[in-house]
Amino acid sequence: MARTRPTVLVVVAVALVVPVLLAITGVALVATGVLSRPLDTRGEVAFERPLRVPELAASTVEPDGTRVFDLTLQQGETDLTGRGPTRTWGVDGAHLAPTLRAARGETVRIDVENTLPEATNLHWHGHRLPAAMDGGPHTSIAPGATWSPTWTVDQAAATTWYHPHLHGSTAAHLGRGLAGVFLLDDPANDPGGLPGEYGVDDVPLLLQDVRLDRDGTLRDVSTSGAVGGLGSTVLVNGTVGPYLDVTTEAVRLRVVNASTSRVYDLGLADGRALQLVATDGGLLPAPVTTASVPLSPGERAEVVVRLEPGERVVLRSTPPELGVAWPVRGMSGARDAFDLLELRAADDLRASPPLPARLADAPDLTAADATVERTFELGDGQAINGRELDMGRVDEVLEAGTVERWTVRNADGIPHSFHVHDAQMAVAAVDGAPPPPRLGGWKDTLYVPPGGEVELVFRVAEHVDPDRPYVFHCHLLVHHDRGMMGQFVVVAPGTAGGHPGTVDGGTHGHGDLPDDVAAIFPGALRHP
Ligand code: C2O
Ligand code: CU
Ligand code: CU
Repeated sequence: MARTRPTVLVVVAVALVVPVLLAITGVALVATGVLSRPLDTRGEVAFERPLRVPELAASTVEPDGTRVFDLTLQQGETDLTGRGPTRTWGVDGAHLAPTLRAARGETVRIDVENTLPEATNLHWHGHRLPAAMDGGPHTSIAPGATWSPTWTVDQAAATTWYHPHLHGSTAAHLGRGLAGVFLLDDPANDPGGLPGEYGVDDVPLLLQDVRLDRDGTLRDVSTSGAVGGLGSTVLVNGTVGPYLDVTTEAVRLRVVNASTSRVYDLGLADGRALQLVATDGGLLPAPVTTASVPLSPGERAEVVVRLEPGERVVLRSTPPELGVAWPVRGMSGARDAFDLLELRAADDLRASPPLPARLADAPDLTAADATVERTFELGDGQAINGRELDMGRVDEVLEAGTVERWTVRNADGIPHSFHVHDAQMAVAAVDGAPPPPRLGGWKDTLYVPPGGEVELVFRVAEHVDPDRPYVFHCHLLVHHDRGMMGQFVVVAPGTAGGHPGTVDGGTHGHGDLPDDVAAIFPGALRHP
């Protein structure tokens, strides 16, 4: 009896403790996404709603030629699901934003009025413009205030976009619906032959994965976890399960990944090839025929799809190749797949010309042109080169007109990306090798997998302002909001050495949300 008691105790203890430990481990693995079920909506989307195509924003032209847009940031209600309305944010409407359009050489002014209950801002992602107009974290538009940036468009035709960029609340504000497309035209360099009738054969597709409750309530993106919130429903221009009636043989889809963390790999469900014609900064040198196009948050891709009369084909995202180890695959969405949009060709299709063989000049910069080199290491928490954002610190001082080579390395085990304001960059190398053809144009945002390295070459724009920084950052917005960002200023040639390395840190513009906003958007991000 006395001899068996310890054995019994051990058996009882093991019998009690092991299941508890297993349960805790299981909950942890599911919670972090390691064991979660992949999301896969392939073949399951009903495509019952016509795709919403954002209106082209109205503009007026002032006597001096300035094109003026008037935008109002507002709250509203939207029935996204047919199961009831939900609170959303929008620009000139309840949800999302109109498409802005301007041509190279035009001066634009955008009057942005904030009628929201909290401060926010707008950043013109992909534009080359003075730092004070850029709408980075140093710009805050208080409730009731109007901000009026103005600049002259001086870059190639491109699909750019606009979204809030306030430090600490970007993911939440974008997720609620503050996002729009900004098209730039360059008639003098139009190769011709590309579909170009807005809303007919030239259609923007803004992708956002969101969390929707059973009653249709839009939830704020989760800001927990290593990679951030992944939604289970992908909105295309705010539409759940959309279809698009196509009336021409070819249709150009300008896809913007406006998701906070999700990477897509876009292709057609029947496996037919796409023609990739443009990326972030504009047209590729030539169309690239490809089965799929990977697209990380912030990136854009323009694809041309050819259709037969009467057919239906689905634009789909298959599991993206993120280069992550298996414990990270679930939490980073590497196993997820979505049906996004059904293209429905009319029985009679208007003829579309074949694509031109040559679209644009290839980027005229190589690594050999660079006179300044910098290295950026992503990782170590949410840091770049070991540091998180400090709005008063200048991390890099650039001289206008210089050609720089930036080497960006992901030293982390999780996905990151790299976006630079005021720059369009040539990709000189990916992991030491020449880049694939799809990266053969100008880029402002690139996915960088764990262990990966990209080499970027760009000419610093001529917008000198030693007091006002631009930023570079990871565009996975949860990392971005946690401060995975650095600042640079552009100074006159020959003056970098004299810069103090600091700027006015300004007001952060974030902080606790008003109670009514927190109640409407449970889980809304609160900055520490
Ligand atoms: Cu899409 Cu710093 O931004
Ligand atoms: Cu940007
Ligand atoms: Cu990141």
